[in-house]
Amino acid sequence: MKKEDISIGILTSGGDCAGMNPAIKKFVDYCFDMKVQPYLIYDGLEGLIDGKIKKAKHSDVAGIIHEGGTRLRSSRSKRFFELKYRKQAYENLLNYGIDKLVILGGDGSFRALKQFHDDFGVSFVGIPATIDNDIFGTDYCLGVDTALNMIRFATDAVRDTSASFRRGCVIETMGRNCGYLALVSAATCGAEVCIIPELEYDLDSLCAKLRKQLEEGRLYIVVVVAEGTKKTAKLVKWLEKEVGIETRATILGHTQRGGNPTVYDRLMATEFVVHALDKLLSSQAKEGLVVVYKDALFQFVSIDYVNSQKFQIKQELLDLASKMTK
Ligand code: F6P
Repeated sequence: MKKEDISIGILTSGGDCAGMNPAIKKFVDYCFDMKVQPYLIYDGLEGLIDGKIKKAKHSDVAGIIHEGGTRLRSSRSKRFFELKYRKQAYENLLNYGIDKLVILGGDGSFRALKQFHDDFGVSFVGIPATIDNDIFGTDYCLGVDTALNMIRFATDAVRDTSASFRRGCVIETMGRNCGYLALVSAATCGAEVCIIPELEYDLDSLCAKLRKQLEEGRLYIVVVVAEGTKKTAKLVKWLEKEVGIETRATILGHTQRGGNPTVYDRLMATEFVVHALDKLLSSQAKEGLVVVYKDALFQFVSIDYVNSQKFQIKQELLDLASKMTK
């Protein structure tokens, strides 16, 4: 097939994250540079089923590089797990003459894609994009740096007011069942306590240590907890009743998903997309791949590989929390 005859679609799926817009922009710009036709697919896999597909123009992506979220919008599609809707999605691709796809999303999206690839052999490259940083096979998922910076900003601010009032604060981060966001935030924001699903903790020994520090003049206590532990309310009670410090909880929630992408996420968006497109344009095989960032290198792995195991936080990072758990 000649390059001019190739059409490539892009969509964003699952939880949105900062970095998706710079990726969409780079996708369109690079497709035009490579003289292939880019298509935009709106509303994620739901939009693929419903044929919300548009031939891209430069003007569709002008002025979006600094915006959080995704201009293509997103969805968590239940219908896509049913064969009849995947078939409808495939027929839409055929109708528009789209040969290949670039898909930004998290593990749920990658599971759906594996099914799509098994059914119809559509050639695609997935780009790991989720603030949770919980995709097996990659050290980095797009959006994580921006989310960490949102958490840093909020935690620094909450610490200011906590110190002014001699209070404890329990900061709950997102991350689903993965403690990565909480762990890195606790380590980089100077938290006293870090509670994540991956690590055991000892509240009695933490309590003794913190009480002593309060007696010696400590003004505040910062606890960072991952949402996956479901321990936020319990920790507030523990600080008030056992440690003996008035405490407030701050659930950061969806603030972590928004905000302007950091420089790092803009750069990673560019790199992920360029690698994905170069691969799609150089390969004739109808492969289902994911471009991962592993050991500081961009590499390609199969969608089966990414779905084959659960992501685990590196031991060196877990070690950072050792003093914050006991
Ligand atoms: O996967 C990204 C994420 O933000 C998780 O951290 C969080 O648990 C979940 O999505 C929230 O989902 P929703 O936006 O559907 O409430």
